[in-house]
Amino acid sequence: MKSPKLSNSNNDRATAAKISITINGQPHQVEPGISVAAALALCEVLSTRQSVTGMARAPLCGMGVCQECRVSINNQRHQLACQTLIANHMDIQTGALA
Ligand code: FES
Repeated sequence: MKSPKLSNSNNDRATAAKISITINGQPHQVEPGISVAAALALCEVLSTRQSVTGMARAPLCGMGVCQECRVSINNQRHQLACQTLIANHMDIQTGALA
């Protein structure tokens, strides 16, 4: 007797729903509906910018207050990663160029 075939429609849907972004020139795929900060974390990019003394900074408050999550998005500097929804073909720069 054949065993029933398991549906992987959830996997198909998840794969099809992903959007393409670029982080520091590297292509990534993430699910829509998340913040840029969440996308950075999922893609294991943990530092968003550098302080004036060159120290790595990362999202802290997650609610638009601390400004530590600033990145460049589509060549616009000082965008808050925690307050910005990810979008298809978004080009994100972190580090000194953020
Ligand atoms: S994490 Fe604090 S402003 Fe974005």
